[in-house]
Amino acid sequence: MSFENIIVETRNRVGLITLHRPQALNALNDALVDEVGKALDAFEADENIGAIVITGSAKAFAAGADIGAMAEFSYMDAYKGDYITRNWERVKTCRKPVIAAVAGYALGGGCELAMMCDMIIAADSAKFGQPEIKLGVLPGAGGTQRLPRAIGKAKAMDMCLTARMMNADEAERSGLVARVVPADRLLDEAMSVATTISGFSLPVVMMIKESVNRAFESSLNEGLLFERRVFHSAFALQDQKEGMAAFVAKRKADFRHL
Ligand code: CAA
Repeated sequence: MSFENIIVETRNRVGLITLHRPQALNALNDALVDEVGKALDAFEADENIGAIVITGSAKAFAAGADIGAMAEFSYMDAYKGDYITRNWERVKTCRKPVIAAVAGYALGGGCELAMMCDMIIAADSAKFGQPEIKLGVLPGAGGTQRLPRAIGKAKAMDMCLTARMMNADEAERSGLVARVVPADRLLDEAMSVATTISGFSLPVVMMIKESVNRAFESSLNEGLLFERRVFHSAFALQDQKEGMAAFVAKRKADFRHL
């Protein structure tokens, strides 16, 4: 498969997608987001892939949706084309874990793309923001919904209403990012986390992702019930037998993803 706006690689059991529109700070146009979707399709179908990393450049993870592409949109262009959500949903629906490795700007749609991932690992150079208000619009790929869930109403309002950027330390303190590392170690750290995850039982990894995400969609009791049902189903896995046998035998588990 050949791509023009992303670079796709496989390292061990990890699929790596690098956003690559350097001339526009990885601004997210339809072509780029379609390509991300195709790469995710391929990684999801590949049983040798256990986790996925999406990254950008040292200067920008992504500086937002492509402003030039939408500047002249009419309401009907946006509405009929289901602009933004149409092809971005693929990131959300991926069943394997997706890690965003963010250096530099993650603004507007770039911040939203990172938040669609399951975990954000940030370089100390990362800057997060929802500056759409400066363009006379509002976040359109989940910013007003995922940001308050991640960092609370006060800071989400602050970011969306003032367009101020949040640096990596504040993002970590606020719960937006899982880890902050020196910029030159970002990809190594993200790949190492993804490699760790991809060494575990893939069905269990997928069950955990589904269960954690359920916490955002249900009451506590419904979420607990969902978790218990999924937990019970884990006893149907060969990997559960292997994981527990390995613990008892004091050896490393050899998961077969079954
Ligand atoms: N769309 C299209 N092109 C973009 C872009 C974007 N979001 N962000 C940057 N670029 C382009 C610039 O136009 C520039 O192109 P030229 O060299 O051809 O002029 C190139 O990338 C480099 O950018 P700058 O010269 O501006 O670089 P800088 O270092 O001076 O500033 C920046 C960096 C602060 C990120 C600045 O580029 C900026 O503010 N970008 C726009 C950020 C933004 O508003 N994002 C939200 C977009 S709307 C959205 O995302 C909606 C949604 O919710 C999905």
